[in-house]
Amino acid sequence: MQTFENILEEIKTPIFLKLMERAKPFLISGRSFDLVHTEEALYELIQFLKLEKNKKLNCNILIPAMIFHDCGWSKVPKKILNMSYGNVKNDNPGKIIHQVKGASIAKKILKNINYDSKLIDEICHIVSVHDNPKEYKKSKNAIIVAETDKLVRYGHFLFYELIKIGIQTLEERIIFLEDGIDKWFSVPEYKVRARFLLDLRCAETSTK
Ligand SMILES: [Fe+2]
Ligand SMILES: [Fe+2]
Repeated sequence: MQTFENILEEIKTPIFLKLMERAKPFLISGRSFDLVHTEEALYELIQFLKLEKNKKLNCNILIPAMIFHDCGWSKVPKKILNMSYGNVKNDNPGKIIHQVKGASIAKKILKNINYDSKLIDEICHIVSVHDNPKEYKKSKNAIIVAETDKLVRYGHFLFYELIKIGIQTLEERIIFLEDGIDKWFSVPEYKVRARFLLDLRCAETSTK
């Protein structure tokens, strides 16, 4: 896992570092894994943006939306937070609150640093729907952010973290992610990457 600074060095855009610095206090005070989760999501998103066919995608929308997408967990009351992990329904209160609060945190920070005002509404909209398939499926940029978010579930950190904190057993986690490959991904590269990462996790756990 690379550090965030290393990841962003590749695209040399100090404004994103600044946004991450502003987002960090929120990511640290939400769920225990929000900061690492966001860094892993940015890593996956940047690899995706580097593909030749994706050069025309707007990283000035996608990267800020990814940075802020889970900042809202910091505003979710602790007793609700504990009911929001793992395989939860769309009307889960934590799911709803963190999207709304995250969008308002993003708006405040983006306005505060004088981010391109033409982009702020779309960034905040993506944050406000990133966990709501009915809404995020209406926009290509929102789909990319939402599916990057889901892809990180297959990564080394989040896979083991949720098992470690007792949200799912190893068997439940593998079934959950196996089912997710067809359910969550429409981006072909992400479907392939999810399969690759899940096979890797299965190989790791069978040798443990
Ligand atoms: Fe989220
Ligand atoms: Fe997330």
